[in-house]
Amino acid sequence: MSYVSSNYWHDAVNKVATDLMTFGYKHVVKPHFVFNHTPDAAHEQMIAFCAATKQIQPLMWLLRETLDYTDPSLETEAMGLHFANPFGLSAGLDKNCEMPVLLDNAGFGFETVGSTTSRPCPGNARPWFHRLPEYDSMLVHVGLANAGSESVMKVVERAWREAKTMQLSVSIARTNDELTGDLAEGIDDYRISMERAAGRSSMIEVNISCPNTKVGEPFGDPDNLDKLFAALDQVDRPQPVLVKMPFDLPWEQFRELLQVLCEHRVDGVTIANLRKDRSGLEIPRDWKGGLSGSPTYARGNELIRRTYREFGDRLTIAGVGGVFTAEQAYEKIRFGSSLVMFISSLMYRGPQQISVLKRGLAELLAADGFEHVSEAVGIDA
Ligand SMILES: Cc1cc2nc3c(=O)[nH]c(=O)nc-3n(C[C@H](O)[C@H](O)[C@H](O)COP(=O)(O)O)c2cc1C
Repeated sequence: MSYVSSNYWHDAVNKVATDLMTFGYKHVVKPHFVFNHTPDAAHEQMIAFCAATKQIQPLMWLLRETLDYTDPSLETEAMGLHFANPFGLSAGLDKNCEMPVLLDNAGFGFETVGSTTSRPCPGNARPWFHRLPEYDSMLVHVGLANAGSESVMKVVERAWREAKTMQLSVSIARTNDELTGDLAEGIDDYRISMERAAGRSSMIEVNISCPNTKVGEPFGDPDNLDKLFAALDQVDRPQPVLVKMPFDLPWEQFRELLQVLCEHRVDGVTIANLRKDRSGLEIPRDWKGGLSGSPTYARGNELIRRTYREFGDRLTIAGVGGVFTAEQAYEKIRFGSSLVMFISSLMYRGPQQISVLKRGLAELLAADGFEHVSEAVGIDA
């Protein structure tokens, strides 16, 4: 079989498989296996499902053969790394690194594991999640539950070395438990995880903006942020570093943080974390947590656009928040994102979303005459 016809068949199989999974997830899996459980139970089941299925080699082969859509226009370079495509799983779904084998075979460009912390962390009291389907959103109140960076980094390192095409990022955060102390203790906590992560993943993301912790977000203050990165700069690590930015800050304060980061060994920013502001949304008062999904889309884009305009020559931007369609991913790219991440659309639309987004983006790039996704980065900023 010639290359062209084999490519044609692979593409046709991918299209049919993606459409079938979109239909199957909407009408069978979501109503009967996911949304009929509490979101906390559904999350546990999803992690257990990933841990079990990643062992089944023929299934992983089938996943790659059917779901991995590839197109040269999607390949890109960012922060000195090559990405098969700009799409990644954002931090939070895979806290202890159970998913890389599945996501690699499904064709993700990268995954962010974590957030992980220096000490194992039990997280906040349950429930951790509330679904807000009317807003395509989740209310998240996990509080950084994870097995701790000592054990998580061992799994990350192995998964990173074994990945076929996917890059692997690890998000580190400050431990959220009873031992949490003053600012110096917080800085040391990050430093320990940074040292453990050094040289053992493609990228490190420093999460300074978890909205669900006992001590709040002290590193959202420019002076504290400066002190944190003065310490992290000392850690010898070869991989690029991103910072996960807060969502709710006014632009002037957000800008001050970016100015501080530019003075340090930081290569990029992830814009942005969960939304705290609930105005305009009807949510029961006793439901705790930060908002994901559609409520983060518009303001997230505005932060990306402004960041690209002022800092685009210094900081690489990974855009995240409310990406459900290829058009929305394309908008984040045109505003300045080199990489695009998502979580909520995976939960609400299903695992084939990666293929839907890649195919759709390749079509949008071709329609606008771009040969490579990098040519579109920031053109609407
Ligand atoms: C279940 C869940 C857990 C999350 N946990 C983390 C986390 O541990 N660290 C982090 O930086 N962001 C975390 N986030 C925020 C996401 O990484 C992302 O910034 C946010 O959900 C917006 O993207 P989305 O609209 O595609 O969901 C979490 C989000 C969700 C939905």
